Amino acid sequence: MPKPKNVWEEFFKDKKHGGHRYSSEEFLAMEAREKLFHLDGGKTLLDFGCGSAELLTYYAPEYEKLVGVDFSPSMLGEASKRIKKKGCNNIDLILANHETLWEKLEFSFDRITAAGVIQYLTLQEIDKFIFDASRYLNRGGKIVLFDLLDSRLYPLWKVGLFSKDVNCLKILRKAGFELQTVVLASIKNRPKDILGFAYHPNKIEKIASKHGFKMIYVCSMYYEYKYHAIMFRA
Ligand SMILES: C[S@@+](CC[C@H](N)C(=O)[O-])C[C@H]1O[C@@H](n2cnc3c(N)ncnc32)[C@H](O)[C@@H]1O
Repeated sequence: MPKPKNVWEEFFKDKKHGGHRYSSEEFLAMEAREKLFHLDGGKTLLDFGCGSAELLTYYAPEYEKLVGVDFSPSMLGEASKRIKKKGCNNIDLILANHETLWEKLEFSFDRITAAGVIQYLTLQEIDKFIFDASRYLNRGGKIVLFDLLDSRLYPLWKVGLFSKDVNCLKILRKAGFELQTVVLASIKNRPKDILGFAYHPNKIEKIASKHGFKMIYVCSMYYEYKYHAIMFRA
């Protein structure tokens, strides 16, 4: 692939893990079980932004064929090792981004999913992603976007409202720190945070319905400030 053209591609180019709340296999297995419940069957699955396949390898026993896509070479390197270690011989990996992936696919899917990825796309990119995904979705298929940042809850999480030892002073301190980070990032022209990429579920639902999908959303079981968007043909 050509050299990184967006800030997130640069950010992830040498990352090796998906940044789950806990990195233990016990936790990843729990997260994957929740996600498999919402994926709710199908025989073929595309995981966009699969990272190091921390969830994908748990999906593998439930599907005939899986494809993981990511624009980070280091993530895919780790994914490859993990897939080998876990003996999942039904997974293919593709190095691509949200635009280039479609021309590299050889078949369509019963499930198209992404976990913790949508916050790196703008609303226009999400719109285009859903349009493209709809063309690669089999009849009766679902697009299931996991762990989108909820614009109502993410700022509260950022200032520590959900932490165990919350108090007013800590909230004020954290709010001050976050403000300083945003201001400094603006001055230095660096990405401020993914706060700007947290979306109200209604905005995602509007995009889904524009492309002929019904959408339901449910709270994420393991992340208080995230939700899952489940789309299926109306
Ligand atoms: C937070 S990690 C989550 C990884 C994985 N889904 C998981 O849950 O373990 C986000 C992943 O999305 C990938 N990613 C972000 N934006 C992308 C894009 N536009 N195209 C392809 N991959 C992308 C990153 O490289 C990274 O591996």
